[in-house]
Amino acid sequence: MNHATASPIPLEFPPSFSAFAEHRSIRYFLREPLAAGHLDLIVEAGRRAPTDAQGHMYSFVRITDPALRDEIATRCANQQHIRDAAEFFVVCLDVYRLRLLVEHRGGDWGMEARISLIYGASDATMVAQNMVVAAELLGYGTCYIGAVQNATDEIARLLHLPAGVLPLYGLCIGVIDEAQKPPLRPRVPRDLCFFENGYPAAFAPEDLDRTYAAMSVKRDWFLALSSYFATGGTMQKREPIMARAWAQQGLAPREMSG
Ligand SMILES: Cc1cc2nc3c(=O)[nH]c(=O)nc-3n(C[C@H](O)[C@H](O)[C@H](O)COP(=O)(O)O)c2cc1C
Repeated sequence: MNHATASPIPLEFPPSFSAFAEHRSIRYFLREPLAAGHLDLIVEAGRRAPTDAQGHMYSFVRITDPALRDEIATRCANQQHIRDAAEFFVVCLDVYRLRLLVEHRGGDWGMEARISLIYGASDATMVAQNMVVAAELLGYGTCYIGAVQNATDEIARLLHLPAGVLPLYGLCIGVIDEAQKPPLRPRVPRDLCFFENGYPAAFAPEDLDRTYAAMSVKRDWFLALSSYFATGGTMQKREPIMARAWAQQGLAPREMSG
């Protein structure tokens, strides 16, 4: 059975889809504020995101103190765009507030760590991505900062996050330095990501080669992939930090019995 979906390429986006058609992560910002009222628009767009079971399992910490912003940037692989962006948020999953609400009316808290981690991460991400689309529709640039996971436990302490709140990533929003705006970055071929009625039995070697060909625009994509995802890469280095942070924030999954 062939599970691949048809790939109508080239596909023209309608003009109202500009935020999708034109999306690229921005790493060079002008040191200018957002226009008056725009931050509220972006935040309200975020708040309209769907939320699992009306749980609102997220919190965003806006970092306006320059010294704190600098400290976080230093811990996040010293990424200068964290300092330069008009706005920077630490995006957190949050089941602390939800627990208080349940217990406030006499409920017994029934959320274990695994459920909290998955639903909290998905709730927070929907809000964050709504904010990204809103910001880009207003003409701003955005960049997520996964390097928060280089020091999750320290950042949680810096921000006084209680148990049940865990930093996921950062989000920069700011005025694009047009002189340094990058080109659109490629995507993994659609038929290797979107399937119909089931998962493919196998990926053929030529499909994997085709993916490398599509993705190796600036340099061999294997170099980037392996620096993140192969043994000794960034993601493996983050694993013990993440384990520490989950324990510190009361979100370490318990061993399942039986
Ligand atoms: C969860 C997440 C974490 C990311 N972390 C970083 C980061 O720490 N620094 C950075 O410059 N870009 C970061 N990015 C941006 C990605 O590198 C970027 O989205 C990807 O290369 C695709 O490029 P595009 O967004 O320009 O299409 C992150 C993106 C996501 C979704």
